[in-house]
Amino acid sequence: MKGKIVVKLSGSLFEPAKGEPARIKKIAKALQKLSDEGYTIVAVAGGGKVARQYIEVGRALGTDESSLDQMGIEVSRLNARLLIFALKGAYPDVPISLEEVAKIAESRRIIVTGGLHPGHSTNAVSALIAEKIRADVFINATDVDGVYSADPRKDKKAKLLKEISVKKLTEMLMSDPMQAGTYDLMDLVALKIIQRSKVKTRIVKCSPEGITSGAKGKSVGTLVRG
Ligand code: UTP
Repeated sequence: MKGKIVVKLSGSLFEPAKGEPARIKKIAKALQKLSDEGYTIVAVAGGGKVARQYIEVGRALGTDESSLDQMGIEVSRLNARLLIFALKGAYPDVPISLEEVAKIAESRRIIVTGGLHPGHSTNAVSALIAEKIRADVFINATDVDGVYSADPRKDKKAKLLKEISVKKLTEMLMSDPMQAGTYDLMDLVALKIIQRSKVKTRIVKCSPEGITSGAKGKSVGTLVRG
């Protein structure tokens, strides 16, 4: 038996404009291959733009933040279903609790879940699952290659960091307002869990290569030290 992998998939993978079915299929194929090789895979789907659009409309209607979070969770669960459709033999339902995920993980079928509880992001969900199942690695597959020294869209000299400590990353993300729909690259809850569980965490590009390399322990993206 190989390692246990928790992979958070950027919500943008599932956006109709960007994430055409071909991209979802490619990611599913990479996950399937890892599973066939003996890795235990738990994938967590993000909510992406669609979640943020629902949250925006709900907020304009005066809804409370935790109900808005719940809408984000529901969208991430729909995205999880899309990935389940693209996989062969994955667990057919979207688990809705940490305990359920841990129980099903023992079956070694690929599990796809979404958000679990208001107040944090699917990154926090992924870190909690990684802690619970004692995963070998938590791969955060995002829209970017990893963590940069500065915003690469604004600063041409920005460099991709091979490693970053949780402390430094926390400082970088501290200014985050922590509202529904805005729990960026990593939220503070996710960072806390990474720190206490010491789970090996890698931020990579959401691509078959990024995920496969990260799962196999290759130096790709940015390693977050707990
Ligand atoms: P995500 O936080 O996972 O999506 O869920 P994101 O920030 O758009 O990340 P990407 O797209 O994968 O990069 C969307 C929203 O759903 C709520 C939060 O409001 C979050 O911002 N959510 C999600 C929760 O409240 N709890 C969860 O467990 C998951």
